[in-house]
Amino acid sequence: MREEGTALQSLEDLDRRYVFHPFTSIRDHLQGGALMIVEGSGCSLFDSKGNSYLDAMAGLWCVNVGYGNTEIANAIAAQSKRLSYYHSFSSMGNDVSTHLAERLVTTAPVPMSKVFFGNSGSDANDTEIKLVWYYNNVLGRPEKKKLISRRRGYHGVTALTAGLTGLDNVHAGFDAPLPMIRHVRAPQRLWEAEPGMTDEEFTADLARELEELIVAEGPETVAAFIAEPVQAAGGVIIPPAGYFQAVEEVLRRYDVLLIADEVVCGFGRLGRWFGTERFGIEPDIMTTAKGITSAYVPLSASYVSARVFDVLAQGSDRFGAFGHGYTYSAHPLAAAAALANLDIVERDGLVEQAAKRGAYMLESLRERFEGHAHVGEVRGEGLIAAVELVASRDPLERFDPALKVGGRVARASIGHGVITRALPEADTLAFSPPFVVSESEIDQMVDGVRRALDETLATLPRG
Ligand SMILES: Cc1ncc(COP(=O)(O)O)c(C=O)c1O
Repeated sequence: MREEGTALQSLEDLDRRYVFHPFTSIRDHLQGGALMIVEGSGCSLFDSKGNSYLDAMAGLWCVNVGYGNTEIANAIAAQSKRLSYYHSFSSMGNDVSTHLAERLVTTAPVPMSKVFFGNSGSDANDTEIKLVWYYNNVLGRPEKKKLISRRRGYHGVTALTAGLTGLDNVHAGFDAPLPMIRHVRAPQRLWEAEPGMTDEEFTADLARELEELIVAEGPETVAAFIAEPVQAAGGVIIPPAGYFQAVEEVLRRYDVLLIADEVVCGFGRLGRWFGTERFGIEPDIMTTAKGITSAYVPLSASYVSARVFDVLAQGSDRFGAFGHGYTYSAHPLAAAAALANLDIVERDGLVEQAAKRGAYMLESLRERFEGHAHVGEVRGEGLIAAVELVASRDPLERFDPALKVGGRVARASIGHGVITRALPEADTLAFSPPFVVSESEIDQMVDGVRRALDETLATLPRG
C-alpha cells in the first residue's frame, strides 16, 4: 500500500528505503544513498540535482552508441505497437528475432549454426553450461562436466556463473564456486609472469598450467573452458600474443569445448567486431549481450557451432523437447533494438571509430599516468583501457586493499564530473566510454581522473 507522505520524500530517501542495490555495500548504502541519474545524452549523464557527468564506462561497458539515441528508441516504440511480445517456446517464433538471428549467425566471426536468445550475460553463460552438459550427456559421457575458467574472469552471477567468475567478491557469502568449477591464472604479465619472461614463455607457462589441471582432474571429467578475449571486469587484462592458440591446442587434445565470452568485447569494443576475430580464437560457443543492443533493452545471444548443435539435436530422441528457455527469450522489443543498434554501428562506422578513439585514449592515458610513482601499468585494446595503481613500482607492491585506493579515486572522479570504475582485486581504474566519445571528451575524462588520483593520494596515510 502506498504510504502517506511518499511524495514529500526525496528521491534519495525513496531509493534508500525501497531499492536493494546490486554490487553495493548494503550497510554503506543505507547510510550514504545513491547518485540518482535521471537523463543521458551521448556520453553525458545528468543527476537529479542537475549535475552532469561524462560516463567513461558506457554504463557497465555496454552503451556503445551512447545515450539518448532516438533511432533505437523509435524502433523499440514501433515494435511495441506492432507486436510487443510473443514467446518462442514450442516452435513459436516472431519475425524480428528471426531476422536478428540470421544477421548474427551470418556475420559471426567464426562459422556458427544457431543463436539462443536470453536476457543477460549471466543467463547466457548459464544456458551455455547447460548446453555443454546436455551435449556430453547425449554423447554418453555423463562424467565430463567440469568447467575451467580463469582467475579474474567475469562471467556472471547466477548460482553457476558466479563460480565461473574468478573474483573473490562474487564468491564471498554465496557458497560459490559450485564443486565442478576450477580456475587457472589470468594471462596478466604484470602479476603472473616471472621477471624477464618473453610472451612465448609466459604463454607456454599458462598453457602448461591448464594442461596439468586437465590431466590432474582427468580429461574425461573436463567439459569446457570459458574465457573473455580481454578480461574486462577483472582488470582489463589483455592476453599475450599466441595465448589463445596455445590454450586451444590443449583443449583440442583433451576434447574440451571452448566458450568465448564476448559479452564486453563483442560488437566493436576492441575496435574489431569481435575479440574472437582480434585474437584468432576458434570457439565452439560464443556469448554476447551488452553491445548487441547498446543496453537499450536487455538481450543476450548464445552462438552455438554446428559441431555442438548437431549433437544437441540428437538429444531430442532421448530427452524429448529441449527443456530450457526463458519467458523473454527472443523478445521482439529486444530484437528490434538490436537490429536498429547494429544498423547504426555499421552505418556510422562505429567499430572503426572505436579503434581510432581507443588509440587516442590510450595515448592520453599513457601521457598523463605512465611514469607516475603509483601507476603500475597503463594498458588498453580498442576502446577499453585501464590504469592499475600500485603502492610501489619497484619492488612491485599493491596498496593495502583496506585503503580502497581505487574506489576512492573513482569516487573523487565523480567530483570532477567523470564516472569511471574501480575494478575489484586490484586498484585498477577502467575506461570504456561509448564509441561516439569525442577526443575532447576523452581529454576531460583523463584529466578528471588524473586530478582525482592526485587528490586521493594526498589524503592517504604516509608510508
Ligand atoms: C564478460 C562478461 N560476461 C558476462 C557478464 C554478465 O552479464 P550480466 O551482468 O548481463 O548478467 C558480464 C557483465 O559484466 C561480463 O562482463
